[in-house]
Amino acid sequence: MSLLALAVGGRGIVDPDEPVVHADDEALLRGRAAFETVRVYGGRPFKLDEHIARLAASAARIGLPPVGESEFRALARTAVEHGGRPDAVLRLYWTPGREGEARPAALALVSELPPDLEERRGRGIKLVSLLGLRAEAPWLLDGVKSTSYAVNMAAEAEARRRLADDAVFVREDGVVLEGPVTNVWWRRERTLFTPALELGILAGVTRAALLELSPWAVEEGAFACDDLYDADELFTSSSVREVMPAVELDGLPISRGPAGDELQAALRRAALG
Ligand SMILES: Cc1ncc(COP(=O)(O)O)c(C=O)c1O
Repeated sequence: MSLLALAVGGRGIVDPDEPVVHADDEALLRGRAAFETVRVYGGRPFKLDEHIARLAASAARIGLPPVGESEFRALARTAVEHGGRPDAVLRLYWTPGREGEARPAALALVSELPPDLEERRGRGIKLVSLLGLRAEAPWLLDGVKSTSYAVNMAAEAEARRRLADDAVFVREDGVVLEGPVTNVWWRRERTLFTPALELGILAGVTRAALLELSPWAVEEGAFACDDLYDADELFTSSSVREVMPAVELDGLPISRGPAGDELQAALRRAALG
């Protein structure tokens, strides 16, 4: 994703080629920062307030200073305008700043959309299930979107190594959780299923939007990954990738169905409406 625009708290628009983070920023030293990825449709970041609220919640859990929500709204607007693309990816970062100083930094980055999203949606993605660890302890930061995403990226790389497109994390006891950057859904007859937030997964903004938009009944809960192999359809959701249908899980074929396509269309209508 090439960077189209960069806005920095207290400075405004900065040349994207200019370094703006110090070498001893804790975001770099320890991966201790909060971030958000937002999709921009027709020049408008979709569900920006929800993303900023989640950024604020992540920051609080990590122990960062409170997020200036109106500052982020303004930074986001400036960066998106400057990016000059109606459809783009907006990323927001709230870092603690330099070690030993309490001077946090706010960044808004605008990039192009990944070029292969619609091709992937057209063909459907292959998923593999991978061990994902979750446990209820506040310091494990379950459900927090922090910049410590090396594990998530390693899981995506492992999925590619196994000739798949993406991963689904499964708890040691076989309960399905989420993808490295997505939430997971499947359908059985007239009912959709998705893992419950109480499992310590990220409260996806797209997940919440789909729960509202869905004409299908949705059950949230703790479900075995085994349930997915003979689902009537399976898909993932995220801000950038939207609703992404799967055609395979662990090498076993899964058929495509109407719910994923309907929810994708409903999401687009909501985003562009
Ligand atoms: C671990 C994880 N789960 C789910 C999601 C989907 O969240 P959203 O719909 O807010 O993009 C993400 C997004 O990056 C994520 O990182």
